[in-house]
Amino acid sequence: MNSWSLVYDSFDPEKEKLREALCTLGNGYFCTRGAAPESDANEVHYPGTYLAGGYNRLQTQMAGRVIENEDLVNLPNWLSLTFRIHGGEWFDMQKVKILSYRQTLDLKQGLLHRNIRFADAQGRISRLDQRRLVHMGNRHLAALETSLVAENWSGEVEWRSALDGQVVNDNVERYSDLANRHLEPLEARSIDAETLLLKMCTNQSRLEIAQAARTRVYVDDTRHNPPRNTLRKDDFIAQTFKLSLQQGQSARVEKVIALYTCRDEAIAESGLEAQTAVARAGGFEELLGDHSLRWHQLWRRFDMNLEEANGDKGATNMMILRLHIFHLLQTVSPHTIHLDAGVPSRGWHGEAYRGHIFWDELFIFPLLNLRMPEITRTLLNYRYRRLGEARAAAREAGFDGAMYPWQSGSNGREESQKVHLNPQSGNWIPDNSRLQRHVNAAIAWNVWQYFQVTDDLEYLSFFGAEMILEIARFWASLTTWNAKLERYEIFGVMGPDEYHDAYPAAERPGLDNNAYTNLMAVWVLVCAMEVLDLLPGDRRQELCEILDLKQDEIDHWDHISRRMRLVFHGDDILSQFEGYDKLEELDWETYRSKHGKVMRLDRILEAEGDSPNRYKCSKQADVLMLFYLFSAEELKALFQRLGYPFDYETIPKNIEYYLARTSHGSTLSQVVHSWVLSRSDRKGSWDLYLEALRADIDDIQGGTTPEGIHLGAMAGTVDLLQRCYIGIETRGGVLRLNPCLPQELTRLCLQLHYRGQLLTLQITKEKMRLTCQICEIEPIQLIYRDQQHQLRGGDTLEFDLVGKECS
Ligand code: BGC
Repeated sequence: MNSWSLVYDSFDPEKEKLREALCTLGNGYFCTRGAAPESDANEVHYPGTYLAGGYNRLQTQMAGRVIENEDLVNLPNWLSLTFRIHGGEWFDMQKVKILSYRQTLDLKQGLLHRNIRFADAQGRISRLDQRRLVHMGNRHLAALETSLVAENWSGEVEWRSALDGQVVNDNVERYSDLANRHLEPLEARSIDAETLLLKMCTNQSRLEIAQAARTRVYVDDTRHNPPRNTLRKDDFIAQTFKLSLQQGQSARVEKVIALYTCRDEAIAESGLEAQTAVARAGGFEELLGDHSLRWHQLWRRFDMNLEEANGDKGATNMMILRLHIFHLLQTVSPHTIHLDAGVPSRGWHGEAYRGHIFWDELFIFPLLNLRMPEITRTLLNYRYRRLGEARAAAREAGFDGAMYPWQSGSNGREESQKVHLNPQSGNWIPDNSRLQRHVNAAIAWNVWQYFQVTDDLEYLSFFGAEMILEIARFWASLTTWNAKLERYEIFGVMGPDEYHDAYPAAERPGLDNNAYTNLMAVWVLVCAMEVLDLLPGDRRQELCEILDLKQDEIDHWDHISRRMRLVFHGDDILSQFEGYDKLEELDWETYRSKHGKVMRLDRILEAEGDSPNRYKCSKQADVLMLFYLFSAEELKALFQRLGYPFDYETIPKNIEYYLARTSHGSTLSQVVHSWVLSRSDRKGSWDLYLEALRADIDDIQGGTTPEGIHLGAMAGTVDLLQRCYIGIETRGGVLRLNPCLPQELTRLCLQLHYRGQLLTLQITKEKMRLTCQICEIEPIQLIYRDQQHQLRGGDTLEFDLVGKECS
């Protein structure tokens, strides 16, 4: 294992689905899991190909009612390629003796290698070498190259290369009672001797998907044209052909595919485009040239370099960080800019959470903002295009403005499921997670952060401001005035901690005065007023006319932003929600000794006929999200605005209090906790950081990563290095730096894009060096330790860090 390769050197059937998710290849337009090409979906393998934003809805009869879910559709399997020697069994890793095995994900070039030496039952020894890519330059192309060497035998090998549309959605066991057949056949035919075409259509969203596959054959590098047979069904098409090999010879089969859909731009018809693209495509080696150039360019922007005191571990951690960046860029890339797709919490890597878009954007965008903000902009537009649906949702629920859904898919309707299965008890339980209205604050936050980094006033004026204002309006309408307390309150919501969705024994779901929600609502209202002040006069007038926004409404926002209620208990502890202090303490020790890590305490308790609603226990950071998002200075300002006292001392108290009561049932949790500890407990922060780093590669939740990576945590671990340990803040048109590296980190090096400038940053224990690429635009305003500096194109600033305490 080096810092650019994820390597597996043995075949482990139990880990295969995890590896498929981790070895997924993609280009932002589509992704294909790292499944063995010869495999079909079964207990060991799950081949899956997913299109960014490729959703379909299906209904299922469930306990006397009809429920509807919108899924990310598993597309026809283009990878399908297998062989058999002398009419024996088709190749299956579990039926041969594996003599050596190596699977390598090359992060630098975006290539997946598979090298196997095996002996079959007849003692024939063969070597199988495969390489595959999903093209980063031409988003429609992918390729698989397979070589088979006859080491100690001569004879005939039969090959089968297929486009397999007989697939269903079956990656998540919990969903297995739900309807899962999304595709219907349109067309399956041979185009020419080496090319097949399969066209299918989703049965509700009517998304037409065309795949064309060109299979070329070489023996010892000489092109062969063996006669081919075609196997054709409505939803499956394959070619078979035979090659004779002499001992020591190698057969090379090169499969290049093109994938188009009816939603692509600049096309006549998806099938035609797929055929043309595949006919025009070069061979594997030629495709690799441009593909690796694109990866090289992406890495130039996105790579980071980190050195740790412990060299060996450092290289592994560096590899994992790169793996995280790699999967981010395969989920969203420059190709995303032309798509109407959001960023899914689990990548386009599996079917968990159905490819839906959550608040996880909050953890993902900062990395994009400071590297390729064009991608953030397009992802924000995914939300902007769904503003109408969000307005309708607010109206239907009796509110004003725009209420974005907790889970979003095709058209921005609420896609959260109504019931979910507890696999531990087998019970279907009402799912109230849609009450996480805080997703709206995250969207406004994301618009504002994008603007802070880019200074893109045009975007703010024409798109961003409208979202922020409509979300502000929604928050205002959600509040209720408590005349006795002279405070505004928000009732019936859920915070980020999904363990609590109601008061114990309450008939109705929802909690009151969730601290995170209330404070974020205040922030949105303040932000909305700031945006109005920022907008050029004519645009402000236009927007106010369109939205019918008058001064008295803005005054009302101002009042709410000064009189929102927060609830406290004990020794300056900000209550997660009103009444939190009345809940029972959980006996963590007993549960941990019985169930180990208790990450899914909710499932354990429900299976016991109990509920987390009764206890002071959290799935993930809730109150502590505030310390993740805001600096102490900003929080103080918000508290002062509300007329609540704020003492810096209360921060560590709150962190300690909630950290002791959190099970980290979401991978986002370690990221947030590592962040909030970074200044007060550097060792604790680093330990949690390492846990967050290993969450997917080790599948620490025990079975969730095979269903899709956790993109929020992946991006969060990379962002934590820059915005937390280096202390990069982009606020008020100023770039602030406040490094505080954990003891274990000796050097950190990265590049940033900020307001059109390219900056190189190098930090060691002794020094921080900042270079600005030559670029004749406005100088960057920078603050380090309360000292203001200006950084112009070509400038280098150096700061001595020796003896500087973290602050
Ligand atoms: C977490 C949410 C998150 C979702 C998708 C859940 O387990 O609790 O905060 O948005 O996963 O990643």
